[in-house]
Amino acid sequence: MKTTVVILAAGEGTRMKSNTPKSLHRVAGKSMLRHIVDASSSIDPEQLMVVHSPNTESAIKKELFETKTILVQQNKPLGTGDALKAAYPAIEKNNAVIVLLGDVPLIKQATINQLKATLLENQVTILTIEVEKSEGYGRIIRDDKGLIKAIVEESECSESEKNIKEINTGIMAFAPGKLKNWLEQLDANNKKGEYYLTDVIKIAYDEGSLVGTIRADSEMEVFGVNDKRDLAKAEKAIREEKASELLEAGVTLADPSRIDVRGTLTCGADVHIDIGTVFVGDVIIGDGVEIGPYSLIADSKIGSNSKILSHCNIEQATIGSKCNVGPFARVRPGTELMSEVKIGNFVETKKSIIRDGSKVNHLSYIGDSEIGKNTNIGAGTITCNYDGANKHKTIIEDNVFIGSGVELVAPITVEKGATIGAGSTISKSAEGGKLTLERGSLKTLDGWKRPTKKEE
Ligand code: UD1
Ligand code: CA
Repeated sequence: MKTTVVILAAGEGTRMKSNTPKSLHRVAGKSMLRHIVDASSSIDPEQLMVVHSPNTESAIKKELFETKTILVQQNKPLGTGDALKAAYPAIEKNNAVIVLLGDVPLIKQATINQLKATLLENQVTILTIEVEKSEGYGRIIRDDKGLIKAIVEESECSESEKNIKEINTGIMAFAPGKLKNWLEQLDANNKKGEYYLTDVIKIAYDEGSLVGTIRADSEMEVFGVNDKRDLAKAEKAIREEKASELLEAGVTLADPSRIDVRGTLTCGADVHIDIGTVFVGDVIIGDGVEIGPYSLIADSKIGSNSKILSHCNIEQATIGSKCNVGPFARVRPGTELMSEVKIGNFVETKKSIIRDGSKVNHLSYIGDSEIGKNTNIGAGTITCNYDGANKHKTIIEDNVFIGSGVELVAPITVEKGATIGAGSTISKSAEGGKLTLERGSLKTLDGWKRPTKKEE
């Protein structure tokens, strides 16, 4: 069956109290809309549509530029029924239609697939769930045979209807054929003056069409985000889900409620992760790695038995095995540490390769550099890679010893086995096996007096 997925995202979202369109608020580092688009794309629909409002078009276009989505505009937010009507002309005639909501971000591929499968039988299928607190949701009304005969919105509910615990998740699927006719019959005779998509259910039931339901697995999968409190709840749900997957895979977490995985974290055996670290994008961690508290690790690889001490910021980097990084290290994009490398506190590295056994232990900047094996970079050493216009390369070969407080003015090579004296500013390449240093001569001034504080 050919399928069109339509994501409704043209509502005003005023309860978010934000200038950002509601569906573009982020959960686990990704916009709600993108979560839904990704889940939908994975069922490979013939068409994937997003209904947006006139003033959110450019933001939504930008967010979805790398996806195969068709954008459709709803001119005024006249309700979910009107939103689907706006999309209708763009929908291929004989396609089944699956409606998702731009503020129900955690919907899963399996559920969308399941909905689609029910259309071999049903004319329309509603994804429902029973919840303890049903307020805010449309209630499912069943007839005495248990068939669904209507959905009643909260604002239209009688007191007894309010007690119904089975709710409409807002997610529905329509078999090819009748949707157009049903949408044309909608009216806005209700308290909000909106065209409710949910009203098509009564129309379908009254004309004897087969209305089916499937139950969502979990409440969070169909949780609707209407305000910032809800957004935080969705974030928490993902946090818990990711933590539980890690525990399941044998990772030790000091506290499963204090780890955030905003992407995919793949861990080897015997990995220990302390509290407070945020993992972003694709992060791969080898066997026996220990991650101390409070770091940000994005799109990086960490080799086996390495230790990341507390408070590090590691982005687009490759760290080999048995390395020690941190505390307080900033490992920027393009850093490659081979094995047994040490990067200590207040060290920043960028676009640099550091080979086996080398150490940069304190307060240094290593940028656009290549550092050989078993080299020691003294405290406070800086590669001066930028002349204000261009970046230049620093090459430091194997077994070099660079004293503390050295400035290496690139482009420059420090040859194998060279020693650079502390406090030098080196602007020419240094020869291997020799000591190179540059220092003014030492002066001591006799009779010099320290200034004293003037009387007021
Ligand atoms: C909707 C359902 C309700 C369901 C709940 C589940 C209707 C009438 N109600 O209520 O039964 O329990 O979702 O979360 O469908 N939208 C548009 N254009 C509009 C109005 C809304 O595109 O004119 C979009 C919104 O951007 C949003 C989605 O449709 O992504 C749902 O709209 P919202 O106003 O949040 O509906 P609810 O009151 O939550
Ligand atoms: Ca909603």
